[in-house]
Amino acid sequence: MVIEHLRARGKRKDDMQEEMADLKMFKAISEQVRTHSSGHSNGLEVVTVARREAELEERKRELVNKHQCNVSTVVLDLNGDDVTTTMQSIFEQHSIGLVVYNAAVFGLGEFTSSLEQQLMGVKVNVESLTRTAHAYATATKTQTRQSSGFLIMSSTLGDTGASHVATYGATKAYDIVLAQSLGSEWKSKGIDVLACVAGPIATPNFYRSNNDTSHIEFMLQTPHQVADECLHALGQGKYAIATGSIQKAFRFITKRLLPTTFATDAFSGMIEQNLKEKEN
Ligand SMILES: NC(=O)c1ccc[n+]([C@@H]2O[C@H](COP(=O)([O-])OP(=O)(O)OC[C@H]3O[C@@H](n4cnc5c(N)ncnc54)[C@H](OP(=O)(O)O)[C@@H]3O)[C@@H](O)[C@H]2O)c1
Repeated sequence: MVIEHLRARGKRKDDMQEEMADLKMFKAISEQVRTHSSGHSNGLEVVTVARREAELEERKRELVNKHQCNVSTVVLDLNGDDVTTTMQSIFEQHSIGLVVYNAAVFGLGEFTSSLEQQLMGVKVNVESLTRTAHAYATATKTQTRQSSGFLIMSSTLGDTGASHVATYGATKAYDIVLAQSLGSEWKSKGIDVLACVAGPIATPNFYRSNNDTSHIEFMLQTPHQVADECLHALGQGKYAIATGSIQKAFRFITKRLLPTTFATDAFSGMIEQNLKEKEN
């Protein structure tokens, strides 16, 4: 169905690669936030956080030129030690309505390969996310907002796990359970929480991690499609959603109809194939 959808929209691999070349998740999400915030962006405030200052400034220029919103940039390594203090200061200085925790460490390889890389994944995907959520919820106690939301980018691998991405899958499972639990806990506080259980997305990281993408292209989504679906679903009663028709069907089948081992082994096969192609 996604193929038909993409074909109908004239999307082929080359178009998607071109789109992803300058559209990473955070940019796509901030643009979609603008679209969803009553259709106009004047007065909308966006704070973007990442490590590369030049990249942040470039995105800032684009967003300001295109949408006339106010954009602040914060250079922060989520694998560093000052996540709590930086997040506290962001939430004190800006009245943030929606937080999108997008950054993640992927880490592909045998479990015994790089312990450092895997612990970096635990730090960025689990610890710093928890620190950010804690700082946000604490700040909302003292601030009045029209609405609040917390969107966490997770992954299908958080449902299934797979060989050679054990730690990544486990951190993404944490992300889903954190969103579900906080969604329920924060409902009475007026904070909507959602985990995006995404399949493959055409981002630079995706193309860096996959040599041959032809076998998964049928389920590939653009960052805009994912961001759009998530923002529509936020606050609609669900705490976690799969994006795209194929992922939705896949999640239903693997969670409700088939034994989890089937899905885990199927993903393991795809990942091992990808690794073999990388080696050759
Ligand atoms: N791409 C996929 O196929 C796919 C599939 C399922 C789920 N997801 C999820 O979607 C999210 C985004 O995926 P992606 O990596 O492919 O997208 P991306 O948008 O290409 O890159 C991740 C962003 O996070 C920032 N970042 C990375 N490490 C950081 C750190 N230590 N501190 C601060 N910022 C950091 C990067 O900027 P800097 O490098 O400048 O810091 C970049 O802007 C992740 O949570 C991932 O798990 C992706």
